[in-house]
Amino acid sequence: MHISFSYSLLKELVQDSKTIEWGPKLRDAILKRKDHIWFPAIPVQDLLTEILKDNSLPSWLESLLSQSHFFTPSLLSLQKGKYAEENWREDFFSHVPKGFLIEKASSNLERHLGVKEYLQISFPASEKALPFLDLQEEYLQHFEEWNRAVQEVFTSCHFILGPQVSELEKRLCQYLDISYAIGTSSGTEALVIALRSLAIVKKGKEFWDSEDLIITTPFTFTATGDAILRAGATPVFLDIDEKTYNLCPQQVEDFLKKEGKKVVALLPVHLYGLSAPMDDLMNIAQKYNLFVVEDVAQAFGGKWKDKFLGTLGDLGCFSFFPSKNLGGAGDGGMVVTHDKELADVARMLIRHGGKDKYNVDHVGYNGRLDTLQASLLLAKLPYIDHWNERRRNHAHIYHQKLVSTPLRLPSNHKLPAQHVFHQYTVQAGEWRNQLQAYLKEKGIPTMVYYPVPLHKMKVFQNRSFAPYPLKNAEKACQEVLSLPIGPFQQEEQTLQIAEEICDFFSS
Ligand SMILES: Cc1ncc(COP(=O)(O)O)c(C=O)c1O
Repeated sequence: MHISFSYSLLKELVQDSKTIEWGPKLRDAILKRKDHIWFPAIPVQDLLTEILKDNSLPSWLESLLSQSHFFTPSLLSLQKGKYAEENWREDFFSHVPKGFLIEKASSNLERHLGVKEYLQISFPASEKALPFLDLQEEYLQHFEEWNRAVQEVFTSCHFILGPQVSELEKRLCQYLDISYAIGTSSGTEALVIALRSLAIVKKGKEFWDSEDLIITTPFTFTATGDAILRAGATPVFLDIDEKTYNLCPQQVEDFLKKEGKKVVALLPVHLYGLSAPMDDLMNIAQKYNLFVVEDVAQAFGGKWKDKFLGTLGDLGCFSFFPSKNLGGAGDGGMVVTHDKELADVARMLIRHGGKDKYNVDHVGYNGRLDTLQASLLLAKLPYIDHWNERRRNHAHIYHQKLVSTPLRLPSNHKLPAQHVFHQYTVQAGEWRNQLQAYLKEKGIPTMVYYPVPLHKMKVFQNRSFAPYPLKNAEKACQEVLSLPIGPFQQEEQTLQIAEEICDFFSS
């Protein structure tokens, strides 16, 4: 584990004690130092050897220097020749800006971390470029737990379907209050496998036919529509509600009145962490005898009334993509269901299509969740409620600050739903692009989820239906903007972003 440190700061932290033991106490002390951000350090020996060798700065250092938020220009004045062996240290410190320290590692650090000498790079938190989602901060605060979880897998070398996969499935069943959970290689594969399981169990065919229609939203990630195609069916894109961005039940019912017989399923997406209107959609599904597959990629931990999203329909599909509310260190997903037959088939499909992978029954996939991912997700699961609460807290701050701007703000729109704010997405109307550029200039990253509705994509041309104008979805693509939100964002950062937005509108 590479931890950057400055010996003098460590000394200060442990009040000049003679020995510095690396352990939770010291780690906590370091993490409490909110005025410094910690980065993997550069071995100082390499740096000095390079600097002393000739007059020019080593190219790797120059490229680091060009990222000006890492280094201040004064370091550029470092020249060879100034550093005679015996006094290099003093001279060096007279040139390095505050926050750059160079020291020998203590013997304890050397023993525990395997480092000898390190250059410490630290700078005030305010100078750090604001990330859209701060995964580094998460790692920094939890690295021991995350590393331990991953280490256990390396120790056992049980990389495929190791015990952590079934443990995670078991724990998710308990958390979500659902009967079966099957780990998959991604959220996309979870959707394909869920739809294929339905075709196999309920239709008695490997794939749906192209005459089989599945209703979904055009305002989602490509994977939602793509999974329908890959399962053999045809997507029908119907418009969204302009406030919640989720499927509009009225349009669904209108379409079903005309074309009801061809439709086999609904595929609602709980976009940005907010539940689709599940009472209406489930009533419609019952009335027209449709299956329901929930795309819960963006809403882990979200609820409709007292039920977790993903557990209301026939199957629920989660994604553990790293940026998701519960995210791994790579791709991963999960199919959940109350139906044993569907669960059994889904479990076969992730393993090439059979209970015995050397003698298979179905057209299957190599679609298993990695043990490494499962292990990490198990370590993260206990934190998910707290992290979702923090997201709601940031959303509350944004709401209070931005309520008087012309932006349309997200909320749970009086739905009996628990929002988990995977994204905090505002509708910025005609100002969207200008606002995005303004914030970028201020160092605030934003995202557009999504710039193109699915029915406008080439892949869906001649492979899908859009029976009505999709005005709300198209408008949303032009006008939405997602602001940084995440459990490791500081409240002050949220406030600062909101203030910049207020300034934009008042100028
Ligand atoms: C709504 C939605 N559906 C499906 C997916 C696909 O998940 P994955 O990236 O894990 O394949 C995503 C992920 O980005 C998503 O946001």
